[in-house]
Amino acid sequence: MEMNWINHVRIRLLREEDLPALEWDGEYKRYRRIYREIYRNSQKGLSIPLVAETTEDGIVGQVFLSQKDPNPNYGIRSRYFFLSSFRIKPQFRDQGLGSLLLAECEKQVRLHRMRDIYLNCAKDNNRARWFYLEHGFQVVRIDEGTWTYVNDEGFVVSEPQNSYLMRKTLSRIFWSPRRREAVR
Ligand SMILES: CC(C)(COP(=O)(O)OP(=O)(O)OC[C@H]1O[C@@H](n2cnc3c(N)ncnc32)[C@H](O)[C@@H]1OP(=O)(O)O)[C@@H](O)C(=O)NCCC(=O)NCCS
Repeated sequence: MEMNWINHVRIRLLREEDLPALEWDGEYKRYRRIYREIYRNSQKGLSIPLVAETTEDGIVGQVFLSQKDPNPNYGIRSRYFFLSSFRIKPQFRDQGLGSLLLAECEKQVRLHRMRDIYLNCAKDNNRARWFYLEHGFQVVRIDEGTWTYVNDEGFVVSEPQNSYLMRKTLSRIFWSPRRREAVR
């Protein structure tokens, strides 16, 4: 890891050739199909998968945003983004990259003229919960039960879910008439 790597990190959209790197030498192989679906959805404009890259170490962090429709059952009245697969490689944590990626997520959400970001944070993941609370998220409810996905071998897998549903509503913004950039 080079010194001052954080100053040279590049945040960009996930490309198809990045997909193997998201499996982290096998640790996340089981999510292969989920990653591919996220990639396909990004091609359709339905998701925004971001990766953080350094020249020396390649992809060192990732976070995915998926556009969701309103869900009246949960009292969610407008479209929102769901944040998932947020992960920084261990030796790159606690140096500000998570905050940078989250800031880029917020920028993207605003560019899509939306304001709500939801995510699930495992109840036992105190570090992530504090990170989100420090960055303005609030716990909305507890999500328990199971979540189901198809793993890389095509098997349906159920994993217990015991997490907090958290939300951040971005503050209102003003749009500069000349440069269509969000300003506070
Ligand atoms: C949660 C996670 C994404 C945060 O990423 P990160 O890069 O460590 O985040 P940051 O460095 O921006 O902030 C983390 C801490 O470092 C501190 N920090 C920020 N910039 C810093 C800097 N330049 N130097 C030192 N510390 C810094 C922050 O104050 C924060 O401290 P806190 O413990 O009080 O919250 C990361 O820890 C991770 O990948 N965890 C494992 C996977 C995971 O749990 N993901 C979330 C699933 S819901």
